[in-house]
Amino acid sequence: MRRTQVGIVGAGPAGLMLGHLLHLRGIDSVILEVRGREYVIDRVRAGVLEQGTVDLLRGSGVGDRVLREGMRHEGIYLAFNGRRHRIDMTALTGGRAITIYGQNEVVKDLIEARVATGRPLHFEVGDVAPHGFEGDAPALRFTVDGEPHEVACDFIAGCDGFHGVCRSAAGNDLRVYEREYPFGWLGILAKAAPSSSELVYSNHERGFALFSMRSPAVTRLYLQCAPDEDLAEWPDERIWAELQARLQTDDGWHPNEGEILQKGVTGMRSFVAEPMRYHRLLLAGDAAHIVPPTGAKGLNLAMADVSRLASALAAFYETGSMRLLDEYSDRGLRRTWRAQRFSWWMTTMLHRVPGETPFDYRRQLAELDYLVSSRAAMTSLAENYVGTPFE
Ligand code: FAD
Ligand code: DHB
Repeated sequence: MRRTQVGIVGAGPAGLMLGHLLHLRGIDSVILEVRGREYVIDRVRAGVLEQGTVDLLRGSGVGDRVLREGMRHEGIYLAFNGRRHRIDMTALTGGRAITIYGQNEVVKDLIEARVATGRPLHFEVGDVAPHGFEGDAPALRFTVDGEPHEVACDFIAGCDGFHGVCRSAAGNDLRVYEREYPFGWLGILAKAAPSSSELVYSNHERGFALFSMRSPAVTRLYLQCAPDEDLAEWPDERIWAELQARLQTDDGWHPNEGEILQKGVTGMRSFVAEPMRYHRLLLAGDAAHIVPPTGAKGLNLAMADVSRLASALAAFYETGSMRLLDEYSDRGLRRTWRAQRFSWWMTTMLHRVPGETPFDYRRQLAELDYLVSSRAAMTSLAENYVGTPFE
């Protein structure tokens, strides 16, 4: 049987970054991923990196491309009642900013870095099963082309996302907090130059819409829809008509149109599993928590988790001390719940809720009106949106 120090399940941003940070500290790991390499790289998801995430990429030597190709944004717009209002995040936070850089680019950079180290990263493995983590002999069992394999390790890192196997392996000993939203997002990537240099979050009476981008030639757009919306009912012309209706403002601003390169529907939920550590099984990223995407926090929370986890594991291997591993969950949950609160707040402020009353909508508009006219309220939004530094 093979041995490693940390068995990592999942090659999303959390698993790959953890493997990379451990490598830099001389700690061996095996990464097991159920999907194929192309699938993992092509999966279109988040695009907003907090400063802490960019700093982590740079500080760990995988930041060259994000520095070259990432787009630094110092503000965002909130649109309602036909007007766009800019929130100057950098001025309000003492110089912090976000960077637009696709999650799939982050994953591509991290896979390249992993392959260069020669440490194991296995795609298309089957039947991954964590074992023995309640005692002191954890192991990962899995199959490759139907053949059984096993890796013994000191710790198992569950970085296998919301639908992974690690969280459920801890069974009923985890406490779960959950909230589903009665809407989802229909997202597209379009071959069109972004018509605004910054993101636009719009509360429109027809529903929420978001204008974002991936590069000077590619626009990313989202529409509030039903959680189980059927994409077959959304030919390109309908998508553009709805985006234009919800995003254009009285000053004539509207998104540029172009060939639609990709379409998808995502449901929305808030979810937290507590604690994030169960004996020698450590959960990180979406395996432990899900936020609705409105606050752009999912990927950034995953990065904050593995940054902390790598330091805790390094301290264990260097000194034998479990102190940071013991604190891993409590510290992570504090950041997680703050992100939960912020993401819930952004979501409820910006979406139309089925069954809401005219009072509810007026109250939402009043909240937005207050937000864009109060420096205190804008500062609160800005400091949460750009994110606090990682520990
Ligand atoms: P994931 O990226 O989910 O990675 C987990 C990995 O584990 C995957 O590669 C998966 O294939 C693998 N895996 C699963 N089960 C197993 C198993 N049994 N064995 C081995 N490997 C396994 N966030 C935003 O901020 N903005 C967005 O617009 C946004 N859009 C999203 C759209 C979708 C469809 C989804 C699902 C998420 C979106 N998110 C968004 C959230 C953000 O992408 C996640 O928070 C981020 O991917 C978390 O990274 P992770 O590594 O924890 O999990
Ligand atoms: C993007 C995604 C988000 O969830 C968000 O809040 C802002 C931008 C994006 O994919 O670009």
